[in-house]
Amino acid sequence: MVKPVVKAIFPVAGLGTRFLPATKSVPKEMLPVVDKPLIQYALEEARDAGIEQFVFVTGRGKSALEDHFDHSIELEHALRERGKDAELRSILDFLPPPGALASVHQHEALGLGHAVWCAHALIGDEAFAVILADDLIMAEPGCLRQMMDVYAEVGGNVAAVEDVPREHTNRYGILDVVTDDGRLARAQGLVEKPSPDEAPSTLSIIGRYVLQPEIFRHLDRQQRGAGGEIQLTDAMAATIPDVPFHGLRFEGQRFDCGAKAGFVVANVAFALARPDLAPAVREALDSL
Ligand code: G1P
Repeated sequence: MVKPVVKAIFPVAGLGTRFLPATKSVPKEMLPVVDKPLIQYALEEARDAGIEQFVFVTGRGKSALEDHFDHSIELEHALRERGKDAELRSILDFLPPPGALASVHQHEALGLGHAVWCAHALIGDEAFAVILADDLIMAEPGCLRQMMDVYAEVGGNVAAVEDVPREHTNRYGILDVVTDDGRLARAQGLVEKPSPDEAPSTLSIIGRYVLQPEIFRHLDRQQRGAGGEIQLTDAMAATIPDVPFHGLRFEGQRFDCGAKAGFVVANVAFALARPDLAPAVREALDSL
């Protein structure tokens, strides 16, 4: 029996330096793809995977994220008065139930491992998910749902993975693979952002994880890794002897919305997937 997963961590304290100047005063997780901010896609994906408790690891200047998941009494009142029911539903439907959203503060940007560690008191001794909102995934069922199904079979730690060109290994956590059936790969080690000539494979972790609480025992040590940061990848690698690690090649398409090109392409792809927008967008793209 694997431990059930009902809590998810959303590390949102990053500075968004790859997306300046847009992210000077707007958190990168609030950047919209079509008409929804990235963080809303992330929470909806988590909810659809059975997550009931949502934990933001947040920082200074990020209050817009919490506001987005709170009632906007004036706006709701105005929409109700004007009979704008669809618009009203669009700002109410995604709100988590009272008490389901919590925030902890990461005072300094010390790395993804540190961000996850900051939530340890709220996670306790439970298995949990981590979603990085700037990895936006178009998939049906959602990527985290697919991972939960695999997790129910294999347990341990599970991350979403995809093959990347070898020259890109220095952007990702990379698997040292022992077995691989083309869909699920088991790793005997993991390396954070190795150079192409040192990478043990080209199978890369992208921003979805299902993790066991044992990870906190390693993160407690606050050891610095690649880039001088406390890395989640190092903690997962260190626990492999006790907690098996599997990478799932999910079905779907991932957009790196932390980078400008990926973000633009995501907007086009999500607009083309919308019946109300596709014809106009397609026509405009053709004329470009
Ligand atoms: C983080 C992780 C890395 C992972 C990546 C996925 O890196 O450290 O292992 O491959 O997310 O997006 P970051 O993109 O925060 O530098």
